[in-house]
Amino acid sequence: MWRVKPLDAILATAEKKALHRSLGAVQLTLLGIGAIIGTGIFVLTAEAAQKAGPGMMISFIIAGVVCAVAALCYSEIASMVPVAGSAYTYSYAVMGEFIAWMVGWALILEYAVAASAVSVGWSGYFVGLLGSWGVELPQALVVGPYAGGIVNLPALLIALLVTLLLMIGTTESARVNAVLVAVKVTALTVFIALTLPVLKGENFEPFLPNGWFGAGHGSGLGAVGAAASIFFAYVGFDAVSTAAEETKNPQRNVPIGLIGSLLICTVFYLLVAAGAIGSLGAQPLVGPGGMVLEPGTPELAAQCQAMTAAGTEPLVCSREALAHVLRSVGWERIGDLIGIAAFLALPSVILIMLFGQTRIFFVMSRDGLLPGFLSAIHPKWKTPHIVTMITGVVVAFFAAFLPVGRLADISNSGTLFAFFMVAMAVLILRHTQPNRPRPFRTPLVWVVAPVAMIGTLLLYLSLPVQAMMVLPVWGAIGLVVYFLYGFRHSNVARGVVEVHELDADAPPDPVPPMPGAPPPSRDRD
Ligand code: ALA
Repeated sequence: MWRVKPLDAILATAEKKALHRSLGAVQLTLLGIGAIIGTGIFVLTAEAAQKAGPGMMISFIIAGVVCAVAALCYSEIASMVPVAGSAYTYSYAVMGEFIAWMVGWALILEYAVAASAVSVGWSGYFVGLLGSWGVELPQALVVGPYAGGIVNLPALLIALLVTLLLMIGTTESARVNAVLVAVKVTALTVFIALTLPVLKGENFEPFLPNGWFGAGHGSGLGAVGAAASIFFAYVGFDAVSTAAEETKNPQRNVPIGLIGSLLICTVFYLLVAAGAIGSLGAQPLVGPGGMVLEPGTPELAAQCQAMTAAGTEPLVCSREALAHVLRSVGWERIGDLIGIAAFLALPSVILIMLFGQTRIFFVMSRDGLLPGFLSAIHPKWKTPHIVTMITGVVVAFFAAFLPVGRLADISNSGTLFAFFMVAMAVLILRHTQPNRPRPFRTPLVWVVAPVAMIGTLLLYLSLPVQAMMVLPVWGAIGLVVYFLYGFRHSNVARGVVEVHELDADAPPDPVPPMPGAPPPSRDRD
């Protein structure tokens, strides 16, 4: 189970199946921003306020710094191994099949559960938008049982719709991605421009109502607890690395794309957070006993309902945080426009997450760690339709019944694990293969990679205890699946390392390119 897939074999395969390298630094950065800006900033800002109060600004910084050091590690390994499969592929080459399996298994949490979370976030904006047009849907059908409803139907439907689009081979064109990035960036810019001028200093007091760690370990509260949750707002930059195979001069452009998109988003997030806090206030709600109420609980939902009925809906209660802030400070119509921006742009984030998921499943199945039928390609649509459908149904199910913040936290637990392993892989490779060419070298790697490992570990340990527990339980299930199936069926185990070199003359990877990237074409030179 420690068998590795030799790096040279991976690279040879990639070379033979070379996709046309057409992406430049700007396109990669746009791809990154397209995947990053989503439910995190548009919706979870409210949850972060409930967890940390105005101190959520520090949370955005902490999460941003951890992502930045992780991105530096991703850059080194993605420029060395510019192939599809992301952290899963890197781990296979560096730490062996077993670890690769566990990383791939954790990536399911990252991508699939993130798709559920973004679906729920979209639902909040959709329902709010209908409300602003005077259409009220029954509460029972727009939130799950956690908030007194039955099923979140809009979230379920958008997840299924995006799944269907992916199954029939829809992939977002680079142009659509660029337009949606422009829509999101414009929405955030307008938000900042309208809220910063009406900022009130007293809204920042008390700055850290729940302290750094809230009521203690496992509460998920406080500035660090909120950082662990708001980390979700940055997830997606790693999607850039999955497009490395399609990038011109990946050595230079992948790091620029990863770090550039992250930097731009961090600046926006900080300004948006400052605007939301300063204009409307962001103090957490406390229950009867003086305890801070946890987001996603019926207690908080009940208190929010009572306050909304009384006409004073605070930021922490809103399911469409940014639109709500603008409406509350007197920009009703612009608030609605922000709602429309989220309504239009969030489905593309769902698409990217679901796509990432199917591609990872696809690669794992092609490696023999998952049954082959999963990577079956539809004769007409040319997509891995079976795995897409199964994933989509599961994603829709979770979106229908779980609150957005819990889903984001669960997704984070998987992502943090994957980032941790990537940082470790970079260090191991520096040690075991010091002379292999490294088109991009992480600066001060012996500082940066350990900081990334400590940072991801710290954030993981600051998640609410339920989300923290999901990773080991999910991991245990993964272990069973591996030993029942992958251990014996793995291509590496059966000595068919080069399996997909055999089809080097076949048409390019039947999986469509990453959403937002131009379609692949064979490199003819
Ligand atoms: N970062 C992405 C979002 O916030 C996943 O929706």
